This record gives sequence, structure tokens and C-alpha cells, in this order.
Amino acid sequence: MILGIETSCDETAAALVTPEGEIRSNVVSSQAALHARYGGVVPEVASRRHLELVGPAIREALAAGRATLDDVGTVAVTQGPGLVGALLVGLSAAKALAWARGLPLAPVDHLQGHVASLYLGPDPLEPPFLCLLASGGHTLLLDVQGHDGYRVLGSSLDDAAGEAFDKGARLLGLGYPGGAAIDAAAREGDPEAFAFPVARVGGHDFSFSGVKTALLYAVRELGDGAAARQADLAASYQRAIVRALVRGTTAAVERTGHDTVAVVGGVAANSELRAALPDATAPPLALCTDNAAMIGSAARYVEAIPSPRYLALDAYASAA
Ligand SMILES: Nc1ncnc2c1ncn2[C@@H]1O[C@H](COP(=O)(O)OP(=O)(O)OP(=O)(O)O)[C@@H](O)[C@H]1O
Ligand SMILES: [Mg+2]
Repeated sequence: MILGIETSCDETAAALVTPEGEIRSNVVSSQAALHARYGGVVPEVASRRHLELVGPAIREALAAGRATLDDVGTVAVTQGPGLVGALLVGLSAAKALAWARGLPLAPVDHLQGHVASLYLGPDPLEPPFLCLLASGGHTLLLDVQGHDGYRVLGSSLDDAAGEAFDKGARLLGLGYPGGAAIDAAAREGDPEAFAFPVARVGGHDFSFSGVKTALLYAVRELGDGAAARQADLAASYQRAIVRALVRGTTAAVERTGHDTVAVVGGVAANSELRAALPDATAPPLALCTDNAAMIGSAARYVEAIPSPRYLALDAYASAA
């Protein structure tokens, strides 16, 4: 089996995946509560917490999968992109474990991991397809022709969609993490109450910094009245972001001629986005936000490095 380890941001995760893509266990320990008081992830705090949690997460993944280290054939780990201090904790744990057992190590790109969440059982998606990857750090339109990679068609020029959700939630006093909170608040609101514009940029790119500023101005203008309009503001803000994502995805489908469309990443958990793209494949909610099962899945298409050649492997902060 493949033991996947993921520590790129504020989730400490470990999972067991079979070479066929069956999930045997998927343990995610979120640090969200720890970072909530700061309104966002504090990198140094995240690294220290990963250090405490990575061992227990691996032990729990093995126990939940009724397995021992004897059942592990490959150790897979997120190499980047992400917070370097956080990534190094998972990478070091993976190296130590693999080296101690003489196992190969598969370094996985986190974004490829999000795409590979679609390749897990029981109903794996097969390339080719067009993929919208919308997460806390990235908004990308991808042309996926094979299991081991993709071509980037467009990306956000500024904030990621998830970042826009998080910053919007903060402006609305909905706390951190914001995506799920806006999703919930929006259910009680009128999505047409406010007309928040989303910039049209060239090609297949996105821009979400303007809509965030529009929300800021609306909140300022409402002053003390903003709290009473929280649900309407959340619903209208979500509507604007979802519209931009759907518009971009539809345009990319038209250009590429793909018959199959998929949505991955934390924002793929958004109920309005899922409803607005009814024909798109989206992973189960637990596989949208960061997890290690998707890292184990991606590792199946990565050439693993034999022991001990991976000991000098370094983490990387940003996508190439
Ligand atoms: N229901 C939801 N609606 C909208 N956004 C959501 C929802 N659930 C989670 N999110 C957003 O998803 C993001 C987290 O997703 P994910 O864990 O994939 O991102 P990340 O790992 O931080 O970033 P990246 O993958 O780019 O490195 C957060 O910005 C969060 O607000
Ligand atoms: Mg992620």
C-alpha cells in the first residue's frame, strides 16, 4: 500500500491508499481552530503543530486501515507548493520513515494531488477532461490529458477563489475558515440583493481582488446595518465568485472541446458551485479540502525515488 502524508498548509493528514486507488484510511487533523483567532494561517504556528500531529496522524492512518508498516510499499509526501516550514515537517517525517524501512519515496505536487482526488475509487474519473482547480491558494483551469500531469490554460492574476471566500468571510464577521461559513450563511440570503461585479480579464484567467473590494465598500456603506444584511451580503458575494468560476470554466470547455468537466480543491465543496456545474464531476466533500488520500493517489503516477536517494530532497514553496 501507499502511505500518503500531507502537511502543506494547516491540515496534518495521513492516508493509506492501494495501488488500485482504493482508500483504506484517510486521517485529517485540521488546525483551523488553532488559527481562527488570527483570522488566517500563521506559518510558524502551523509548522509547530504539524510536528506534534504528524506522528499520531500516521499511526492513526495505519490503525484505521488495519495495517502496519509491513504493509507499506511506498511513502508518498507533498513536496510543494505550500508553506515551506509546514512542508518540511511532512517531508522529513516521510524521509525518516521510508529510510528506516528501506522504502521508496514518491514526492507529490500538491496541485497534482488535488487533481488526483478524482482518480480514487470507487468511481475514478479517466482523463482527458477539463479541470477547474479552486482552492485556498490557487484558481486554475487545467487541460488534463493523462494521469501524471496537466497543461495550465488560465489562472487567477491575484487572489485565489478560496482566498476571496476567506477574506470575504472576515469582512462579514463570519470567522475563519471562511468558505464553508459563507456557503452556510448564503443559504439564508438573497443572492441578487447586491450586484457585486467580478472582473473580466483576458484569456482564461481570473481576478478576485475587485469583488473583495466591492464587498468592503458595501460593508462600510452599510455601517451598523451590515450585520443585519450578513446573509444577503454572503449570498451575493458567493454568487459573484461562482459566476466567475462558471463563466471561466464554460469558456474553457468551449475552447478545448472537452466533454468531461471536473472541479477539485476546497472551493469544489461549495454547494452553489456544485449546483451551477451539475454535469461536472467533483470529489466527495472530504476529498475537496486538503487530505493525504489524494497525495497517495497522485503517487501512483509518480516515479518513486529508491532509498536512500531522496534524503537530499527539498520542499518548494510555489508552483513552478
Ligand atoms: N463550502 C465551501 N465554499 C467555498 N469555499 C470553501 C468551502 N469549503 C472550503 N472552502 C475553501 O477552500 C479553501 C481550502 O481549500 P484547500 O484545502 O484545497 O486549499 P489550500 O490547500 O489551502 O490551498 P492550495 O491547495 O492552493 O495550496 C479555503 O479557502 C476555504 O475557504
Ligand atoms: Mg490544497
